[in-house]
Amino acid sequence: MQSIHQNNPSIAELESLRKKLKKDRTLIPIVDYGAGSHRVQQTVGDIAKSALKRTKHAVAIAQVADYIDAQSILEMGTSFGITTAYLAQKNRAVTTLEGNPHIAEIAEKHWDSLGLAHIQCKQGSFAESLPSLLQQWESEMHLGFDLIFIDGHHQGDALVTYVEQIKPWLKEGGVLVCDDIHWSPDMEEAWNSLQMDAHWTASADFYEWGLLTTRAGLTKEAFSIRF
Ligand SMILES: C[S@@+](CC[C@H](N)C(=O)[O-])C[C@H]1O[C@@H](n2cnc3c(N)ncnc32)[C@H](O)[C@@H]1O
Repeated sequence: MQSIHQNNPSIAELESLRKKLKKDRTLIPIVDYGAGSHRVQQTVGDIAKSALKRTKHAVAIAQVADYIDAQSILEMGTSFGITTAYLAQKNRAVTTLEGNPHIAEIAEKHWDSLGLAHIQCKQGSFAESLPSLLQQWESEMHLGFDLIFIDGHHQGDALVTYVEQIKPWLKEGGVLVCDDIHWSPDMEEAWNSLQMDAHWTASADFYEWGLLTTRAGLTKEAFSIRF
């Protein structure tokens, strides 16, 4: 059933979905992509409690999208699609990548119930889905993304590899958000090396996530902000 709030679900609607997810005791199989999970299955509730970006962060990243007037967004790491739905507010087109088909199925049901038809989810490991998406975009002469949010496969070398792959697809003045930049020594190292890359005109460290931009007219500066 389609929601009456076409394309613009309210925070209350999204948070009520999050609340429901946290209470869900359904077991689903876990797909490990090398981030270190040894579990074979987990409840929806436990995943929702640990994996999703908390409300204030999802809201903040959506506000960044508002600020830069993003039209096209890529998210790597969909989970149950709650942050995806925040990003897809104001009719923004969101492409999101998720490796666990059981999780992606739940996310797709959420977007259906919210009337968010402009989200496209590509299933499969990032190692396969990302190059195939970029190849498809190249052949369709797509203009690229305004905002890219990397929130999955939190290993330093993987992060650096993904950033190198997507860099040419971030539009001039676009924003790249990397999650869990202080999660482990190798993520910390990866974040430090990304910040130093002359490609970016400025960076901001929000502790849970970091932001890099190619926006013109900025002097190379690194901000550190806690909220
Ligand atoms: C932290 S969760 C994403 C949370 C989501 N962005 C949110 O805020 O609601 C990371 C997701 O990425 C997926 N993932 C992790 N590594 C992956 C990989 N290498 N390929 C595909 N999916 C991956 C996991 O299955 C998981 O659902």
